[in-house]
Parts: sequence; C-alpha cells; structure tokens
Amino acid sequence: MLPSLIDSAARILYPSELEKWRQMAVAKRRDEWLHGRWTAKRLLTAPGMPWEGVPFTALAIENAPEGAPYVRGAQSAGCLSITHSRGMAACAFLPGEAGTVGIDLEWVEPREEVFIRDFFTANEAELALSLEGEARDLLVTLIWNAKEAVLKAWQKGLRLDSRAIEIVAEGVGRGEDWEQLKYQARVEGFPHCRLFWRREGVFVLTLAAAFSGDELTAGSIIQLKTD
Ligand SMILES: CC(C)(COP(=O)(O)OP(=O)(O)OC[C@H]1O[C@@H](n2cnc3c(N)ncnc32)[C@H](O)[C@@H]1OP(=O)(O)O)[C@@H](O)C(=O)NCCC(=O)NCCS
Repeated sequence: MLPSLIDSAARILYPSELEKWRQMAVAKRRDEWLHGRWTAKRLLTAPGMPWEGVPFTALAIENAPEGAPYVRGAQSAGCLSITHSRGMAACAFLPGEAGTVGIDLEWVEPREEVFIRDFFTANEAELALSLEGEARDLLVTLIWNAKEAVLKAWQKGLRLDSRAIEIVAEGVGRGEDWEQLKYQARVEGFPHCRLFWRREGVFVLTLAAAFSGDELTAGSIIQLKTD
C-alpha cells in the first residue's frame, strides 16, 4: 500500500471509516471505496450543502443493512447515492425527506449475449440483440446502468431481480446532455422514479429520483459530483 494513499485516507475518512478501509482485503475495492467517500464528502461539504465547511474526517458515511449509503446521524437531511467504476466516481444528493435518489456509472463495453438473456426482460433483450457493434454496447450498458440506478433509488440494489424494471429504450438519443428515459416497474410497492442519463466520456451515467415534487430535472434539485 502506498504511503500517499494511507495519508490521503487519513485526511478523508472518519475514524470508523478508516478502520473499515484498512480491513478491506481487495486493493481495487479499497481504492474505489475511498474514491467514492472522497467524492461524496466533496459534494456534501460544498457551499450551500448541509455540511458546508465540515471537515471530511468529521463526517461518517455508513451503509444501511441493504447497502444504501447515508450520513451517520443525519438520515433525515437527505438521500445520498454513490457509484464508482474504473477510476471514476460519482454521487448524487437529494436534500430533505421528500424522496430518494440512485446513481450509477458504467463503462461502455461489449457484454455477452448470455448476460443480456439472463438479466434483461424479453423486450429489452429483443431490442439489444437487434443491434450490433457499438450501438449494441451502448444500449446494453445504458439499460443495465438505468436498472441499477432505479434499484438504488428504491434502496434495494441487486437484491431485487434486474427484470423487476423494464427500461423503455427505443429511440434513445446520444446522451450528449441529460435525457429522460422511461421504464416500467414489474413489481409493486416501490415509488415511481424519474430517470435521466447522459454519456460521460467512455462511461454512461444514469440518475433515478423518486420524488413527489414537480420541478425535478437532473441538474437542479439533485446535486451531482463526478470525478
Ligand atoms: C448496489 C449495486 C447495484 C451496486 O452496483 P455496482 O455497479 O457494482 O457498484 P456501484 O459502484 O455503482 O455502486 C456501489 C454503491 O452502491 C451503494 N449501494 C449498495 N447497496 C445499495 C442499496 N441497496 N441501495 C442503494 N445504494 C446501494 C453503495 O453506496 C455502494 O458503494 P459503497 O459500498 O462504496 O458505499 C450492487 O452491487 C448490489 O446490489 N449489491 C448487493 C447485492 C449483491 O451483491 N447481489 C448479488 C449480485 S448478482
């Protein structure tokens, strides 16, 4: 372990987080986890945010039993979501108690047909398999990414079947700016989310928010930080 990484962890993490980080056996997981905490703390302590000016080491981000992250002692301040992938991290924060948010980042790359058949609904698979090359890679990544964002906004993650959500991806654009995406829930008991996506270099970034207000856009109520 590089001394510089140990130094930066000590400047970023709350004592209990530092302890947890030190016990992580897999270097990739340790790096991604630290990157996610750092990105989230930069967002939460930024001007206008609930923890403006609070030192990173005074803020503990914990995970609920099913994995959703929250700021220790402050669950009612808002909903936090974190994603990390291949050297990139992103987080979103929806202030207050009005709703929940989920964010997911995925590297665009080819995925096997068996992945599509196992994890996608019949309609999603039919659309994906009708495409080839980069168009298929992008669509498959987007569908998977969007499912994970909704599953995170539902605070469940992959504890629910990925086919519980059907992404309606016909006619999606190029994702050069935030675009809204539709989906259909195939399970009951979870709130409806507004879903947005965009390209972020070689990644796809998707944001889902279960929120009862009218004025939600990806760039407004949700605070977002990518790194
Ligand atoms: C949550 C999950 C969808 C994340 O997917 P991923 O693309 O691999 O990883 P990401 O970097 O995008 O997201 C990880 C973050 O999601 C958040 N998260 C985890 N479980 C969550 C949940 N139930 N609800 C909301 N957010 C959750 C955490 O903040 C986590 O980061 P952290 O551990 O550093 O705090 C998925 O890993 C999962 O549900 N795992 C738990 C269940 C499981 O392992 N099932 C078997 C898989 S086939």
